Amino acid sequence: MQDAPAIDTSALSEHVGQQVTLRGWLYNRRSSGKVHFLELRDGAGSVQCVMGKNDVSEELFASADRVAQESSIEIRGEVKAHPKRPGVFEVAVKDFQVIAPTVGEYPISPKEHGTDFLMDHRHLWLRSRRQHAIVRVRHTIIQAIRDFFDGRGFTLVDAPIFTPNACEGTSTLFETDYHGDKAYLTQSGQLYMEAAAAAFGKAYCFGPTFRAEKSKTRRHLSEFWMVEPEVAFLDLQGDMDLAEDFICFIVERVLEHRRPELAILERDVSKLEAIKKPFPRIRYDEAVAILNEARAAKRTSGEPDAESTPDFPWGEDLGAEDETVISSRYDRPVMIHRYPAQVKAFYMKRDPEDARLALCVDVLAPEGYGEVIGGGQREDDLTTVERGIEAHKLPREAFEWYLDLRRYGTFPHAGFGLGVERTVAWLCGLPHVRETIPFPRMLNRLAP
Ligand code: 4AD
Ligand code: MG
Repeated sequence: MQDAPAIDTSALSEHVGQQVTLRGWLYNRRSSGKVHFLELRDGAGSVQCVMGKNDVSEELFASADRVAQESSIEIRGEVKAHPKRPGVFEVAVKDFQVIAPTVGEYPISPKEHGTDFLMDHRHLWLRSRRQHAIVRVRHTIIQAIRDFFDGRGFTLVDAPIFTPNACEGTSTLFETDYHGDKAYLTQSGQLYMEAAAAAFGKAYCFGPTFRAEKSKTRRHLSEFWMVEPEVAFLDLQGDMDLAEDFICFIVERVLEHRRPELAILERDVSKLEAIKKPFPRIRYDEAVAILNEARAAKRTSGEPDAESTPDFPWGEDLGAEDETVISSRYDRPVMIHRYPAQVKAFYMKRDPEDARLALCVDVLAPEGYGEVIGGGQREDDLTTVERGIEAHKLPREAFEWYLDLRRYGTFPHAGFGLGVERTVAWLCGLPHVRETIPFPRMLNRLAP
């Protein structure tokens, strides 16, 4: 195919009226007796290629009749701007070639398929329009995450994946054999970021994280990506300010760059446009009061069994349903701070004004998406951390290095972790995290 430069579909606007070559896959084909409409997909996007019976040889026209969905193809033709729809282009086909036909029928036909079937074919499902849109939004979120911290003087400090100890509690550790010793896949890079904060002031890590909890919910993955900033001389208040700015930055970036993808996903963007500072900040105690108010209202509602709905027991962690009750009262993320220390990790700093409470914060996304950020101020007193390790029955030896951070120039510091997949689910408006990561790892899924 001579004299027709190879371009991808994102460059069509620069070649109107010119001959180009496009390579990709046949996404869809419609035919009338006289015209084939071939939709070519090339990763960057897709374009309708129109092949008229009179414009090509009989043989070529017939070959386009037989080509199956997802065959790899090459098309040469002239780029035309759509007469009525600005930004939409077509290609008038002059030449057409099948690079490789499919071997058998492509498994994902345009008809409806069940989620299990699609998940089993995830390697192919990624080619579909919706999945493509989700991965692109994810990409933009990840880029925004990096830009936010890089633009504020943070240093990227990678945390290890093999670790000798727990961070978030021993019940969710994946154990592996490490040259004859036990090691665990990381649950969080936080403890290492605390070391990094003492070295760099402002640091973050960003990588895959592993949780072995046997949760089969729409929010849990066994492997997920988390970004964890950690800042020296920051308190809980400053930590919440940082989280608020961070979320606003990500949402703005996605709205700026991914409107076409959000449209494919039929996301109501007005809900995202409402995400502006300040976010409501409520104490755990206030959250419990909201829950009890809702429960009291339910008791008098006359719904079956509602009368026996008990009050929320102070001291317990909030469940997914509780989070939904609270977050549905706001049109933007809500920050719940000062949970009872007993439901939080060993490293949380106690509230000097009430020792039962931890100086921590969870950020709940609106529309029922639940917790997207967990974090807070860290305990910086040596003896108190030692006691925490003991109380949580953690192996002291494995934490000696962490205690060094309290021995050598201990300092107030705070940070948080944001889960990428829950953020993608929220911004894309997806009911389940399984579609937010290219190859999800869940309780019952390790393949493909
Ligand atoms: O609340 P988590 O467990 O906090 C930590 O790991 C802290 N050490 C972070 C820090 O302060 N540096 O997890 C943080 C976030 C959650 O808010 C959620 O978005 C996500 O990580 N997350 C999960 N996402 C998907 N699947 C799971 N199983 C997740 N567990 C946590
Ligand atoms: Mg949490």
